[in-house]
Amino acid sequence: MFRIAPSLLSADFARLGDEVARVIASGADWIHFDVMDNHYVPNLTIGPLVCEAIRPHTTAPIDVHLMVKPVDRIIPDFARAGADIITFHPEASEHIDRSLGLIRDAGCQAGLVFNPATPLHHMDHVMDRLDVVLLMSVNPGFGGQAFIPETLDKLRAVRARLDAYEARSGRRILLEIDGGVKIDNIADIARAGADTFVAGSAVFGAGRDSDPNRYDSVIAAL
Ligand code: DX5
Ligand code: ZN
Repeated sequence: MFRIAPSLLSADFARLGDEVARVIASGADWIHFDVMDNHYVPNLTIGPLVCEAIRPHTTAPIDVHLMVKPVDRIIPDFARAGADIITFHPEASEHIDRSLGLIRDAGCQAGLVFNPATPLHHMDHVMDRLDVVLLMSVNPGFGGQAFIPETLDKLRAVRARLDAYEARSGRRILLEIDGGVKIDNIADIARAGADTFVAGSAVFGAGRDSDPNRYDSVIAAL
């Protein structure tokens, strides 16, 4: 089963509630919520207050991607704000196992995010605490960047690790890809092993503003 997770980073920030409701009505599965702190990444976006504000606009899972350092102190705030999934970058956490535990103790699903050049060994000793692995196919910080082609090899390597883990544990960890996902490359990305696809500019750049169903065809095509 495949999931589409539109990234709100490219949505109209003045009308976020409507944007959330519209992409879900158009067939999207999760809402991807990019949190940037102008410290871990060179951009500044939205926090728990905005998560809380959009929560009543959908029952779909809110997938919070933390690009913040430090990680731990913001986790309970997002859990209270209605996040369902919380992921963070291993480089941004002093204690990866502790951060994953904080997320799970708060009742959310937990995941690690790997930048294009971040080695995969960070997941080695925490597989039992992972619900999702998020692989970046751009460097984090901005929407609208081009998919880095080398990511496909890395994606296959992650797929192999997760399949081996599932074979020995019976537990399936989701494999999410984030950055530069478009209609014309999503099939190759799926073949390389992703099951969950973040798409920001591809979704929110589609159609005409005046068209109430403007997201239908792009989400169907993805
Ligand atoms: C980048 C963010 C992505 C981004 C994806 O740091 O994590 O979620 O919004 O946007 P597109 O799909 O436009 O590359
Ligand atoms: Zn993201």
